[in-house]
Amino acid sequence: MYFVKGKVTRQAHVDIPEGCCEEEYARRGFFGRTSHLYRRQPPVNWSHIEGDLRPHAFELPKLEGLRSGDYKRGRVPFLRNQDIELLFAIITEAMPYYFRNADADEVLFMHRGEGVIETDFGALDYEAGDYLVIPRGTVYRLIPRRETALLVIASAGEVEIPDRGIVGKHALFDEGVINVPEPDQDRDLSEGPFEVKVQHQGRISTITYPFNPINVVGWKGDLTVWQLNIRDIRPIHSERYHLPPTAHITFLMQNAVICTFLPRPLETGDAGALKVPFYHANIDFDEVIFYHDGEFFSRGGIEPGMVTFHPQGIHHGPHPKAVEAVAGKERTNEKAVMIDTRHPLELTQEARSAEVQDYWQSWMVKEEE
Ligand SMILES: [Fe+2]
Repeated sequence: MYFVKGKVTRQAHVDIPEGCCEEEYARRGFFGRTSHLYRRQPPVNWSHIEGDLRPHAFELPKLEGLRSGDYKRGRVPFLRNQDIELLFAIITEAMPYYFRNADADEVLFMHRGEGVIETDFGALDYEAGDYLVIPRGTVYRLIPRRETALLVIASAGEVEIPDRGIVGKHALFDEGVINVPEPDQDRDLSEGPFEVKVQHQGRISTITYPFNPINVVGWKGDLTVWQLNIRDIRPIHSERYHLPPTAHITFLMQNAVICTFLPRPLETGDAGALKVPFYHANIDFDEVIFYHDGEFFSRGGIEPGMVTFHPQGIHHGPHPKAVEAVAGKERTNEKAVMIDTRHPLELTQEARSAEVQDYWQSWMVKEEE
């Protein structure tokens, strides 16, 4: 059943009726039943919110407990649910032990820095902009050459690449750009002890070996550590239509996705096409965006290293200034990582230490002086 009532546009996100803004009210992350509502005022222009539900923003480098010198203790969790845990870490020294997460697959998004990751499968050099995908149960160790800040997305389910549908399997990135480690045949096998810290059910056990546990001389198969740099992702776009965030999905997980927003042309081919995201009520997904680099065109006051968190049940959309600012622009140079989760995320105690207190007020339209 499809209905049309009142003042609308024939093509969503294009030629919005004069004096209105568009809201997309949609199930299943813009894939299910949908209605477009044409409103006289943006649904985010509230004047007061009472209660817990509100948009949040965090300055991750201010999280309490960072830089503790220890990778495991210094990975500070800020949001979590039964499927996903999000953590942030800053490390300067080589980890003195190995780590194995028996609870989750991990996607490490390297925000700043460079170095080496040693794993059961071999070593890889890493740099800013890398995604390192580490399947549950793989031993690894980070050896920074420069101070390294990273976002950790720990997923209870496997991390997979989505089907590319009608754009074909080489779109967004060709699997040829993925790096996997080579085992080191001449590894120093000096005597230990060597420690492997294993996370199981959230607790750490330490296993000590008299030899280096990274001792693989060969491997074969389709389960391994892999590396993808965001420079090798080629976003798709339409110059006449604002594509939904699902066009930018990089990884699928259990009840969650990771999207990568990258520099791309804006919608300049049609004067009536929206250039900024439409307003939306998150009804089926919580939405977390980590701002990596560039200028974030739909939000003011956001710097690299910050995160916004828009929970289910409350609207969000572009900031008022963003709509004007983007009018003359032809491109966006933002680089950001978005994590959408089907089930609600909880803020951790640590997250409160880095919260931008007045973020929920950032859409409020101030009276002109
Ligand atoms: Fe959104």
